[in-house]
Amino acid sequence: MDVARIGVVGLGAMGSGIAQVAIEAGFDVVGREVTAQLGDAAAGRVAHFLTRKVEKGQRTQDERDGAVARLRTTTDLDDLADCDLVIEAIVEELGAKRELFGRLEEICRPDAVLATNTSALSVTEIAAATSSPERIVGLHFFNPAPLMPLVEVVRAELSSDEAVATALAVVERLGKVAVPCHDTPGFVVNRILIPLLNDCVRVLDEARVTPEALDAAMTNGAGWPMGPCRLVDLVGVDVHVHASEALYEKLREPRMAPPPRLVAMRNAGLHGRKSGRGFYTYERG
Ligand SMILES: NC(=O)c1ccc[n+]([C@@H]2O[C@H](COP(=O)([O-])OP(=O)(O)OC[C@H]3O[C@@H](n4cnc5c(N)ncnc54)[C@H](O)[C@@H]3O)[C@@H](O)[C@H]2O)c1
Repeated sequence: MDVARIGVVGLGAMGSGIAQVAIEAGFDVVGREVTAQLGDAAAGRVAHFLTRKVEKGQRTQDERDGAVARLRTTTDLDDLADCDLVIEAIVEELGAKRELFGRLEEICRPDAVLATNTSALSVTEIAAATSSPERIVGLHFFNPAPLMPLVEVVRAELSSDEAVATALAVVERLGKVAVPCHDTPGFVVNRILIPLLNDCVRVLDEARVTPEALDAAMTNGAGWPMGPCRLVDLVGVDVHVHASEALYEKLREPRMAPPPRLVAMRNAGLHGRKSGRGFYTYERG
């Protein structure tokens, strides 16, 4: 199916980034937030990032203005009725997502593809809340969506070939790198990266090295572009612990469980870059 209009539900960190990527690629986007204030704030953030691109010479003013004009925000889910593809990026809770997909199924055209940006939930379980699971896929963008090239295109148990093909074609038009995969816990990247980062944090204590030293070891000895402690700070300690817990719950492998040190940091509000303090201290703002 040819996609012209994309709905994005939830314009938080991920949804607003996805909306930005989509309007930059020429799609019309209807973004839905729970309040007009949150919708306006998200649209403001997107406009701000596109203005920065003009200042850096990465976009012309006309391109920026055209993209900004393609984003419409709403609080009414019914406004997504004429979308060809809807990407859900709301809170990472199975119940909330299942409820939303039940409503989207009623609102959207039967041929519209419905996608979830979930990181750690089962796309199949979300799809099972509807009577048309064949049109549901996972589209797992990485944070920040405008900068990270990868999108995992997740085929759930009952996804149709057509829905997957539509999702793949959209990802290509977004200028992203698509990796198609099946619906398994953590998909591809998180299934590997989460236990790996957990191992890194355990080594901090076992080898009694500082975060700076561990990061220096992995950047200089393993060629990582960024050290593991900096990476956990960037992802968000809370986000990482939540994803670890979800993977552990599903796979029951000890390496998936978040190390107590990270759980303690999460509980203390040391969430990394966004909170100003994690393994490192950051200037706010
Ligand atoms: N942050 C990441 O690194 C990252 C990366 C990839 C995928 N994800 C996934 O993307 C999704 C969104 O994550 P985020 O980091 O953007 O979260 P966020 O908290 O920044 O944004 C979520 C948005 O959804 C809205 N919302 C919350 N509950 C809702 C509900 N019940 N109905 C409708 N709207 C609701 C909120 O107003 C909020 O703006 C989650 O499923 C998350 O697992 C996150």
